[in-house]
Amino acid sequence: MILSHIVAVAKNDVIGGNNTLPWDIPEDMKFFREKTKGKAIIMGRKTFDSVGHPLPQRLNIVVTRQADFKPAAPNVVVRPNIEAAVEYAKSQTSKYGEEIFIIGGGEIYKQSLPMVDVIYLTRIHKEFPGTVLYPKVSPTEFELVEQRDRTEPVPFSFLTYMRRR
Ligand SMILES: NC(=O)c1ccc[n+]([C@@H]2O[C@H](COP(=O)([O-])OP(=O)(O)OC[C@H]3O[C@@H](n4cnc5c(N)ncnc54)[C@H](OP(=O)(O)O)[C@@H]3O)[C@@H](O)[C@H]2O)c1
Repeated sequence: MILSHIVAVAKNDVIGGNNTLPWDIPEDMKFFREKTKGKAIIMGRKTFDSVGHPLPQRLNIVVTRQADFKPAAPNVVVRPNIEAAVEYAKSQTSKYGEEIFIIGGGEIYKQSLPMVDVIYLTRIHKEFPGTVLYPKVSPTEFELVEQRDRTEPVPFSFLTYMRRR
């Protein structure tokens, strides 16, 4: 099992605010879709609410502390903490593959950073206003193993970090 973050982060570490994404970068959305297609994805309840529906062709797992949380859509698995969400995703690897993706938001990324093996981090080289931040990636804990630079519609880079062992 490989546990991964996939996240887009502005130069000032902003990832969102007001329950929305501050940018529209089609190539990054395509990267997200292709990486997570057919896989298990774990998200916080606020991120699930902001998307508004389960993402198709993926095992959607939502984390909430609300014991009575009922998602407004079918085909969504609800778990009471991140560990239970990961355990459930692990039990489904024969169907959804060995890589499990944590797709946000800020609270869930922060709490699960110590657990992850890989971070797919799209760094947008521009500051954006927002209140939700991604934590600093420590270079002593993670090694940058891949970088692909892009220019449209704003300068950004696809970065892959792997946990140092
Ligand atoms: N740039 C990106 O790549 C990216 C990706 C995803 C999201 N985002 C943005 O991030 C923002 C949302 O992030 P956020 O930090 O506000 O919210 P979030 O992390 O999506 O969700 C927080 C919610 O998750 C539940 N939760 C958190 N920790 C938990 C735990 N240990 N056990 C059980 N449940 C737990 C709680 O739900 P209950 O309140 O129901 O208990 C909490 O209110 C939005 O603006 C979104 O657009 C950006």
